[in-house]
Amino acid sequence: MRHYISISIYSYWYTIFFFCFCFISQLINVKSYIINLVHKCVAIRHAKKAEKSGVDIISLDGFECAGHPGEEDIGNYVLQAKGAKVLTKPYVCSGGVGDGIQLAAALALGADGVNCGTRFCATQECNWPESFKQKMVDGDERSTVLMFRTLKNTSRVFANAVALEVSRIEKEKGINLEFADVAHLVAGVRGRKAEKDGDADGGIWTAGQVVGLINDYPSCQEVVVSFH
Ligand SMILES: Cc1cc2nc3c(=O)[nH]c(=O)nc-3n(C[C@H](O)[C@H](O)[C@H](O)COP(=O)(O)O)c2cc1C
Repeated sequence: MRHYISISIYSYWYTIFFFCFCFISQLINVKSYIINLVHKCVAIRHAKKAEKSGVDIISLDGFECAGHPGEEDIGNYVLQAKGAKVLTKPYVCSGGVGDGIQLAAALALGADGVNCGTRFCATQECNWPESFKQKMVDGDERSTVLMFRTLKNTSRVFANAVALEVSRIEKEKGINLEFADVAHLVAGVRGRKAEKDGDADGGIWTAGQVVGLINDYPSCQEVVVSFH
């Protein structure tokens, strides 16, 4: 971890996203460098703790988000409004944002900006295979699924064939699920092979509910301009 942070600093990446700043701050005094620390939080109490720990910006990630939405299932409509009431540092609305109307809504709720993940995966510049991007275009807001709930490590991924198989096993095993039951399906090596082969159903890949708003995969510039 120390190594990755050093690379970031010496590569002049002045903004770094953390999921676990309290832990990282014990490894290296990142605040002694001129960088912005953004901490991803899915709960207000985590955001408050991150503020106390000295982060510069909070990314408040709602339940809609791709990746790890946490275990509390708070949607952005409440999360962002609560952020405005209790946070003192700037914060960005993350999760589910894919167009300019949502940007305006996030600002109206009190956020200082937005963080978009999935929307930029459906762009020309993203090095994902076209088949992945087309799946997002063909999908809708129901096209993601939560995995690892019972393991308390919830992940939101695209609901492709592999993800649905993981989901089926999870339902079958219930609270007796062990990671080993699904490891062969979610393994990184499998995901990388799927990417290489352009097989959108071959492995797990991260996506948020905003796929319901994605109808094309233009350039990043066009996406940003469309936010105006
Ligand atoms: C392909 C992809 C990979 C991601 N990888 C990570 C990751 O490694 N660590 C992390 O904290 N969040 C990760 N995220 C989540 C994003 O940082 C961000 O919180 C999320 O995408 C926001 O939700 P949205 O996709 O609805 O815009 C990833 C998101 C995507 C789409």
